[in-house]
Amino acid sequence: MTVHEIRKVCVVGAGTMGAQIAQQVALAGYPVSLFSRSQERLDAAVKSNARLLAKRVEKGKLDAADSEAALSRVSTTTDLAEAARDVDMVIESVAEERDTKRHICQQLDAATSPTAIIASNSSTMASSFFADCISHDERLLNVHFFNPALVMQLVEVVRGPHTSDEVVDTCMDFVRRIGKTPVLVAKETYGFIANRILFIAMQEAFGLVEEGYVSMEDADLAVKNGLNWPMGPFELADLVGLDVTEDILSQGHLQTGEERWKPTAILTGHTTRGELGRKTGKGFYEYARVGP
Ligand code: CAA
Repeated sequence: MTVHEIRKVCVVGAGTMGAQIAQQVALAGYPVSLFSRSQERLDAAVKSNARLLAKRVEKGKLDAADSEAALSRVSTTTDLAEAARDVDMVIESVAEERDTKRHICQQLDAATSPTAIIASNSSTMASSFFADCISHDERLLNVHFFNPALVMQLVEVVRGPHTSDEVVDTCMDFVRRIGKTPVLVAKETYGFIANRILFIAMQEAFGLVEEGYVSMEDADLAVKNGLNWPMGPFELADLVGLDVTEDILSQGHLQTGEERWKPTAILTGHTTRGELGRKTGKGFYEYARVGP
């Protein structure tokens, strides 16, 4: 299948990532069916996307009619078979739980045509984790977005040992079509490229603060002013979510066996108290307003 044959896309999961991925795809002109088990989550996704596009309209960055059209191209449903029917590509973005993702893949296998591309947005699981759930696994790979997906330019296209050249090429073209910059990850490795660099850098920052070399605020200032990152590592962990950060690190520890990935007390202290970053109003920092 070439990129010209992609006519409709399904996004599975309407959390922070799934919601914005669906909207980005719709902004590029594709009809998108967005699935979640929870109607409440779907309603929140639609509301949040409407708010984000309204800001673009206010700032003169998006035409009001284009915004309306892009919002109306996203349809929502709590029925996975309905969401996946007649689509040419699925982007799976459900919680980072292996059994959940495998179950979703099995359902997608039954609901999609054998040529529909199945792309996982997982940060912690390469598509090989699900290859036995998908018949015609040459159509399976990772297509990994960054948070916030409506803003961040990078999308990693990760080839699995089973993925066909054609599917890789189509996904690279698709990412360009939706206005993002793809990089090809030629073989599966834990964390792919950007997260592998980012989360080990975060571990360095956490360690320096834990061992008393610098305060959290100064570590963030150092990285912003010395390295020109838009956010310091503690601010960024709060944006990504401390639960997601911990999950990426512990999976890294589990999958590579390397100590450098092991989450340390400075992070787990917050997650055990339910302080998960911006989304709960408190993480390393406190936030006046809950939400993105
Ligand atoms: N969702 C959607 N859009 C958002 C947003 C959010 N949570 N936060 C900000 N934006 C938008 C704003 O609406 C604004 O849009 P316009 O340019 O169209 O007006 C734009 O982003 C810039 O926002 P601001 O002017 O308010 O603030 P800023 O200039 O400080 O940018 C930022 C905010 C884009 C988040 C910037 O700080 C940044 O790039 N931070 C680093 C983000 C990053 O590194 N992400 C990767 C995390 S790792 C990951 O995602 C991988 C994984 O697997 C977990």
